[in-house]
Amino acid sequence: MTTAKIALLPGDGVGPEVIGAAVQVLEQVKGHEWSFTEAPFGIQGINATGSVFPDETRRACEDADAVLLGAVGGPAGSAAGGLRPEAGLLALRKHFGVFANLRPVKVWAPLLEFAPVKPELLTGVDILFVRELVGGIYFGTREEPPNTLMLDSTAGAYDTMAYSVPEVSRVAKVAFEAARLRDHRLASVDKANVLASSRLWRRTVDLMAADYPDVQVLHQLVDSFAMQLITRPQAWDVVVTGNMFGDILSDEASILAGSLGMLPSASLNEGKFGIYEPIHGSAPDIAGKGIANPTGTILSAAMLLRYSLGLEDAAHQIEQAVEQALLSGIRTADIAGTGPVTSTTEFTQEIIHQLSQLSQ
Ligand code: NAD
Ligand code: IPM
Ligand code: MN
Repeated sequence: MTTAKIALLPGDGVGPEVIGAAVQVLEQVKGHEWSFTEAPFGIQGINATGSVFPDETRRACEDADAVLLGAVGGPAGSAAGGLRPEAGLLALRKHFGVFANLRPVKVWAPLLEFAPVKPELLTGVDILFVRELVGGIYFGTREEPPNTLMLDSTAGAYDTMAYSVPEVSRVAKVAFEAARLRDHRLASVDKANVLASSRLWRRTVDLMAADYPDVQVLHQLVDSFAMQLITRPQAWDVVVTGNMFGDILSDEASILAGSLGMLPSASLNEGKFGIYEPIHGSAPDIAGKGIANPTGTILSAAMLLRYSLGLEDAAHQIEQAVEQALLSGIRTADIAGTGPVTSTTEFTQEIIHQLSQLSQ
């Protein structure tokens, strides 16, 4: 019997709805016990304590084996009282040094017909994005005029994209090692035809390739890669890229899996600690309606079991239960097309039902 400590940060918008679903699924995993500690984060954190990443939340995470997070943020671009909830998410990631963000993209057979890409292009698609998460343009020097200032023609702002060799090599190592356990193909995505930081990225990956002669490395420019992700999705195995490119490309790739609501993620540091969250945001347009797709969060919980707790069998069972639920025909609105729609709760109940069948 394993008792693991899991910090829950439901956050904003649909965050509490999808975290509630994932907790229900975890509670059905036989042979293990979880000790959950819930803590405020994002706008929820501002309302509770005045901070987007409150000290009590940091301590709850430090005390846990892993963090399961919903989402933060209000309607895109909004700020709550001048504070940006997204800054809390970046601070959380930086605090724990979770530099390797794994975003697997798997195509589910029952959703093939539904995806906007032709089914024959999608069969067998299985991509693992390894996104650098605590560096690059998200964390470089920036400057902007204060919010309170009226903008005139002299106003300007800048962000800086910087990468060092150690920052690139530690995330590339995760990608090379992952490729070794998969199909031995690695695409490194950059903008080396324009950006100095991308040229350093490319040279670092090339230097490391000598240590992985069994892995075939291909460099791709981000603009044409964005296109080829849709035209040739079966061509990709592991994809390693910087923070911002990985953010954008993974949302694009979610379309291959049927919906943004389907994709999970694991953000890992050098040890076993990880932050697990769906790749989507707080979805303000559907928040509170009970219709969000909880799959990305439920699969994130499975990744938590796999990477932070070493419970491969339990992780695999959750993934199988999701597949069985999809096979049963149950659908949240985002993956229903013109067919019948169920609520987040009914969808979760079906996954729990399938899990109980599997673990009998
Ligand atoms: P979003 O990911 O919240 O939503 C984009 C679209 O996808 C919306 O139409 C939404 O309804 C839909 N969608 C997202 N998740 C879904 C789900 N589980 N089931 C069904 N449909 C789903 O992106 P946005 O609207 O651009 O951003 C809203 C807020 O979320 C912003 O404040 C943004 O900064 C924040 N955000 C947070 C995270 C995070 O916490 N990790 C990630 C992305 C965006
Ligand atoms: C994500 C989100 C975040 C990111 C935002 C909310 C800071 O879009 O996790 O993909 O850009 O990393
Ligand atoms: Mn994103």
